[in-house]
Amino acid sequence: MVQLTLPKNSKISKGKVWESETGTRIKTFKIYRYDPEGGGQPTWDTYKIDLDDCGPMVLDALFKIKNEIDPTLSFRRSCREGVCGSCAMNIGGRNTLACTKGIDEVAGAAITISPLPHLPVVRDLVPDLSNFYAQYASIEPWLHTTTAEPEKEWHQTPEDRDRLDGFYECILCASCSTSCPSYWWNGDRYLGPAVLLQAYRWLVDSRDEATSERLDMLEDPFKLYRCHTIMNCANVCPKGLNPAKAIADTKKMMVERA
Ligand code: SF4
Ligand code: FES
Repeated sequence: MVQLTLPKNSKISKGKVWESETGTRIKTFKIYRYDPEGGGQPTWDTYKIDLDDCGPMVLDALFKIKNEIDPTLSFRRSCREGVCGSCAMNIGGRNTLACTKGIDEVAGAAITISPLPHLPVVRDLVPDLSNFYAQYASIEPWLHTTTAEPEKEWHQTPEDRDRLDGFYECILCASCSTSCPSYWWNGDRYLGPAVLLQAYRWLVDSRDEATSERLDMLEDPFKLYRCHTIMNCANVCPKGLNPAKAIADTKKMMVERA
């Protein structure tokens, strides 16, 4: 796995070492702290918590720190079961979901936790995903049809429905896009693996009637063609999806329609 860098302009320094909890299973967490409004530089703060008094997941440790040690620690979360995608962050050098990553699964004496890389940081572990969501909106992720709406649902055969497997499960956590060097370098113009996987999900939806227009929109030297099959996306996806394959299949569709 590639060594991930910290957000732009960060000159990170050693931060506060919080008083250790007592117990027999003490684990060290080094957590990226940054408050842009405070004017200071980011720091690595160190927390030592007793795993015998903590749930098994990294998100449990973050909650314990916030609730019992340092209430100023900021992070996003909602579902706590790998469904909403909001707790994506970099844990032990790898993008993943804090709620489904077991503390015991992370190697090393200390667990480092930082925000998703190469994004502006709103605060602590909270990245600014505005560009990511704008790119998602740009692919118009809804059904486009020109025929009259049916009285009930749009029908699909089981086989057509199966073509959405591997794509509809994406929870838009952005772990893949922010682990992709092409996206780090060209994130303003390259749509990145997550958004391209979502675009492909609509390209293969048998009910959608805008395939040609969707391909037209992607026919661009940057939006689609900055994927260099580095494959970090498929390696990190916490849902086991393969955005690189969706991108390759989109390129194939481009060739086949030419
Ligand atoms: S493809 Fe996987 S890593 Fe990428 S946004 Fe979707 S769920 Fe997250
Ligand atoms: S809190 Fe929803 S995916 Fe982790």
